[in-house]
Amino acid sequence: MSLQRPLKIAPSLLAADFAHLADEIAGVEKAGCEMLHVDVMDGHFVPNLTVGPAVVRSIDRITTLPLDVHLMIENPEKYLKVFADAGADHLTVHAEACEGRLGRVIEAIRSCGTGCGVSLKPASPLRQLEGFLDRIDMVLLMTVNPGFGGQSFLREVLPKIGELRRVFSGDIQVDGGINRETAKEAVRAGANVLVAGTAIFGRPDVRQAIEDLRRG
Ligand code: DX5
Ligand code: ZN
Repeated sequence: MSLQRPLKIAPSLLAADFAHLADEIAGVEKAGCEMLHVDVMDGHFVPNLTVGPAVVRSIDRITTLPLDVHLMIENPEKYLKVFADAGADHLTVHAEACEGRLGRVIEAIRSCGTGCGVSLKPASPLRQLEGFLDRIDMVLLMTVNPGFGGQSFLREVLPKIGELRRVFSGDIQVDGGINRETAKEAVRAGANVLVAGTAIFGRPDVRQAIEDLRRG
């Protein structure tokens, strides 16, 4: 399955200035990105805490961009509906947080009416998704260990991207350490949705930053 899907850029708000979130979002929206990536962390699944549904709800009021909510939390099924009601357009859970019940969690996301994504940490094998790929819109292959922005891209994930692309025609998202160089490598391997925090919000000109990621 070598079909290449359209490239989408998803700025990660984790690297934005939370005191000026509306301005930061307006900046990337005007610059022409496809969606906004919101990282939700619970201090258990990952050793960091970020935002919850109240922030998603406020963001949803000020943007027309689709909200791509990346749930780095344990027991994600408890919170799917609350994030969907808050305005999430796409919900991604971690396979590692759904052991033995991933099928049920996928069905629960589907019944929320949002897009359905499943993520794997860098060390988690693709076989964790076996039997589920035809019910998933997007697979998020983490290219850093989840928890913090600003880490370095793990090149050892590249073969996993290629292997997945051969059997999956949906969106393949990569997240962590994505910059102009690593974006090119990830896209060449088969990814088509690029999440980037530092490489967008850490730059003075977000429009140029997004263009750089797009052009590679
Ligand atoms: C990390 C998060 C990422 C993070 C990426 O656990 O899932 O979305 O914000 O940040 P950068 O692009 O700085 O690596
Ligand atoms: Zn993320």
